[in-house]
Amino acid sequence: MKKDYNFGYTKVNSKQKTKLVQNVFSSVAPTYDVMNDFMSLGMHRLWKKRFVEVMDIKENDVILDVGSGSGDIANEIIKSQISTYLYLFDLNKAMLEEGKKRLKNKKNINYIIGNAENLNFENNFFDKYVISFCLRNITDYILSIKEAYRVLKPGGKYFCLEFSNPKSSLISSSYKIYKSKILPLLGGIIAKDKNAYRYLSESIDLFPSQEELKKNLYDCGFQKVKSINLFNGIVAIHTGYKI
Ligand SMILES: C[S@@+](CC[C@H](N)C(=O)[O-])C[C@H]1O[C@@H](n2cnc3c(N)ncnc32)[C@H](O)[C@@H]1O
Repeated sequence: MKKDYNFGYTKVNSKQKTKLVQNVFSSVAPTYDVMNDFMSLGMHRLWKKRFVEVMDIKENDVILDVGSGSGDIANEIIKSQISTYLYLFDLNKAMLEEGKKRLKNKKNINYIIGNAENLNFENNFFDKYVISFCLRNITDYILSIKEAYRVLKPGGKYFCLEFSNPKSSLISSSYKIYKSKILPLLGGIIAKDKNAYRYLSESIDLFPSQEELKKNLYDCGFQKVKSINLFNGIVAIHTGYKI
C-alpha cells in the first residue's frame, strides 16, 4: 500500500508532496530573505549564527549544506574566514540561484540541484552535513538522515537547525496563535502567497519534537546525539556523530 505524507494538514502521496513543496519554494524564492526577517523579527540571523558556531568549523572541512536555499548558512560560514569546501545542494533551482547570486565570486563553492533523499555523492565524503530549516520539507525525511549518514566520513558530524517545540506552555499557546493567524497574513502581504505561509505553519506543527528527532537520528546510526534549544525550543539544533 502506498504511504501518505503530510503537505501541511493535507494528506498526499510522495510525488505530490515533493511537487507541492517545490511549488511553495518557487513561489517564495524572490521574497524569501525579506520574509524571514519579518516573520522572525530578524531572529533567524541569530539562530543561524549560533548554528554555525556550534558547527566548530575546521580548516579544509568539506561541508554539505542541504536545502541551502538563498545561502544564509554558507554566508555565515564564509564570515568565519576559515577555508572550507562548500557544497550547496537544493532541489529548487530558483532558491539555489538566489544563493548563487548572493555568493558570486566566493571561492570553493559547488552548487548542485538534487533531492536530499538521494544524494549523488560517494560514501564517506563529507566532514560535516548541515541542514537548516529544510528537514521539515523533505517528503521522506528519515531517508534523508540515512543518506546524511552514508555520505559523512567516519568521525563526521550531522547538524540540523529546525523549528521545534517550545518548552513553556505560555510561549507555546501564543506561538500557536502567531503561526496560524499572523504568519499567513504576513505571507499574503509580503510574499503575496498566503497559502505558502499557511503550509509553513502547518509543517511546523507536524514536525517531530526534539526527543522524537533525537530518536530518529539514533535509529539511523548516529551516535552522541544532542539537541540544543534556542528561543525556548521554538527552534532546536540537533547534532550527531557518525563513528
Ligand atoms: C526554508 S528553506 C531553507 C533555506 C536555508 N537553508 C535557510 O536556512 O535559510 C528550505 C529549502 O529546502 C529545499 N528543499 C526542500 N525539500 C528538499 C529536498 N527534498 N531536497 C533538497 N532540498 C530541499 C527548498 O527548496 C528550500 O530551498
